[in-house]
Amino acid sequence: MYDWTDQYHINVKEIDKQHEVLFSIINEIVEMLRNETYDFNRLYEIMVKLDDYVVEHFRFEEQLMLIESYPQMEEHVREHNQFRYDMSKFNIVDVKQPKEFLEGGLEYLMKWLSNHIMGTDKKLGEFIYTTKLI
Ligand SMILES: [Fe+2]
Repeated sequence: MYDWTDQYHINVKEIDKQHEVLFSIINEIVEMLRNETYDFNRLYEIMVKLDDYVVEHFRFEEQLMLIESYPQMEEHVREHNQFRYDMSKFNIVDVKQPKEFLEGGLEYLMKWLSNHIMGTDKKLGEFIYTTKLI
């Protein structure tokens, strides 16, 4: 399981809440792996949920950046777009080795998410925090 800990907080309440939801959806995949109960319909259901939530979450962050006139919006959106593209390449229909697919996909998702939160999202959090103090 991937634990949601304080180190991931970017100090923007709504975004932290959304990141926590992303963790919990990814943990549903972990759960499936751990139980070794691969089920295509279940995988499909989780991937659709993840996809929908990522769309909603990125949209939220991007609207916030726009409203706050965030100077590093372009780089941030570029990272989101890379992830959107990579997600679209996940082909869950042709999974020949579900376990390997789940493990590889999971590793990619978590690496991207934690790098993005710890670097790019934290910068956004700091910007919002500082502008609110002025
Ligand atoms: Fe982001």
